[in-house]
Amino acid sequence: MVINRSEIKIKPFQDEDILLFSKWLDKGYISKWLCSEGKDQKADWLDEVNERNGRYSFLKHFIVYHNNTKIGYCLYADCFFLKDLEEEGHDFEDLYGDIVEKNHTYEIGYLIGEEIYLNKGIGKIIIQILEEKIIELGGHEISADPSEENIFSIKVLLSNGFKKKKDGDYRKVI
Ligand SMILES: CC(C)(COP(=O)(O)OP(=O)(O)OC[C@H]1O[C@@H](n2cnc3c(N)ncnc32)[C@H](O)[C@@H]1OP(=O)(O)O)[C@@H](O)C(=O)NCCC(=O)NCCS
Repeated sequence: MVINRSEIKIKPFQDEDILLFSKWLDKGYISKWLCSEGKDQKADWLDEVNERNGRYSFLKHFIVYHNNTKIGYCLYADCFFLKDLEEEGHDFEDLYGDIVEKNHTYEIGYLIGEEIYLNKGIGKIIIQILEEKIIELGGHEISADPSEENIFSIKVLLSNGFKKKKDGDYRKVI
């Protein structure tokens, strides 16, 4: 299966997506990175999507589609607000404590939930789509905080022009 960029779209996360997202988070190759701290970290993710129109409205969640099929998830968030977020497994204050301006640096996250879509360049396309959205918003920098062991995620960031700032902190000036 060859995937064209035009076949990949992202659409805002809906309530009906929660079950699927939860199922994806349980998959070993995903939970290893997104829920490495265990059940509490999964609960944080679910809380954040459930409250996406409420107290976590600064986290913008999307479902990734290949044509009409739901194949993954991604998000972006303004680091100005993210630095105050308490979440298992992340020290956002340490990463973004120096960000004093809104609409400057945005963190991104992504996963491919359906295994048959892995390693086809879709991770790269998702990052490009998120980058376009952040440029439209007027952001100046994109960040990602993959574990240093997550070589696929780091590869996909580097191939999109991100540079390592320090361990687990990758940035791209836009
Ligand atoms: C990270 C992730 C989104 C990458 O998506 P992807 O569409 O498979 O990545 P791509 O096809 O764009 O490939 C990115 C690079 O990794 C390599 N790669 C990806 N999967 C691979 C595999 N199973 N074996 C070997 N290399 C692989 C690709 O060859 C490519 O390298 P290149 O640019 O040098 O060619 C996907 O692996 C995933 O969902 N992982 C679990 C969730 C996760 O870790 N999210 C990120 C948290 S920070």
